[in-house]
Amino acid sequence: MQRIGFIGAGKVGRALGMYFSGNGRTVSGYYSRSINSAQNAAACIGATYYEDLKDVANASDVLFLTVPDRSIGQVWDQLVCLQQKGEVLLNGKVLVHCSGSLSSDIFSNLSETGAFGFSLHPILAVSDPEIAVEQFPTCIFTLEGEASSRKEAFFSELQAMGLTVAQISKEKKVRYHGACVMASNLVNGLLAASQQMLMGCGLDESLCEKALTPLFLGNANAAATRGPIQSLTGPIQRGDMVTVQKHIGELSKEKDDAELLAIYTALSNYLEHHKGVNGNER
Ligand SMILES: NC(=O)c1ccc[n+]([C@@H]2O[C@H](COP(=O)([O-])OP(=O)(O)OC[C@H]3O[C@@H](n4cnc5c(N)ncnc54)[C@H](OP(=O)(O)O)[C@@H]3O)[C@@H](O)[C@H]2O)c1
Repeated sequence: MQRIGFIGAGKVGRALGMYFSGNGRTVSGYYSRSINSAQNAAACIGATYYEDLKDVANASDVLFLTVPDRSIGQVWDQLVCLQQKGEVLLNGKVLVHCSGSLSSDIFSNLSETGAFGFSLHPILAVSDPEIAVEQFPTCIFTLEGEASSRKEAFFSELQAMGLTVAQISKEKKVRYHGACVMASNLVNGLLAASQQMLMGCGLDESLCEKALTPLFLGNANAAATRGPIQSLTGPIQRGDMVTVQKHIGELSKEKDDAELLAIYTALSNYLEHHKGVNGNER
């Protein structure tokens, strides 16, 4: 059975370790920047923690580099260095990172090491590992890396554990990650912009949050159920351009509203253009 080890005992490393272990896989253990993190993550699933990078590498057939994006290349370089010194054998091992925007190209000179390198990204915001473990079976993972029988075996293994995995090419990773950011982080931006406008109408912050929550959640639920264009309501869906122009006029009055105006105009243009394309001109 393949032994799965983790370098980086943070949110994603812990969640994946719990998931794999809960699905009967052998988790060889954790190495992390701080021993405390490695100890805590390992203790959760009765696995080993390592104080040395080379020990987790030697104890694992599949190595997850669940460190922040900026550290993935650096950890990879350390592993290559250990192989050059004869302290670690990477040949035949599977190396995986979980960045959404980086591809497997971060594993530079991979073929010279004899290892296989993939990126595996859960389309999920992971803040609490225990919650993420519950969510993994319902979210989509994307897998990227050079085609090989080892990649197909890894893909099948993930599916056998109940995960839904889509394959993606390395050229598309940045665009793909931009799409994920649009559906999550940028929605926060829209909500914050809406709150700012409401507060400009004299509503206090807590009232704004209360006012927007049912509107936001109801709309998000409809969009997720019926599709963002099919569930569209409001002036653009009705073709009420007089109202849209009034909004634009209002946001054009003050220089300070320039960002709000740009957001409002760009999204209105997008919806106006796409509602027809997607057949929601009712
Ligand atoms: N969180 C999300 O929502 C999410 C979603 C999808 C994908 N991802 C991806 O998953 C990866 C991990 O993200 P995360 O959210 O789990 O980050 P995180 O919670 O910050 O965990 C990163 C872990 O790596 C350890 N670490 C940092 N530098 C290290 C090094 N040089 N060597 C060894 N360990 C090191 C950290 O240190 P300590 O030992 O000090 O704790 C920490 O435990 C990233 O590539 C991220 O893009 C994250």
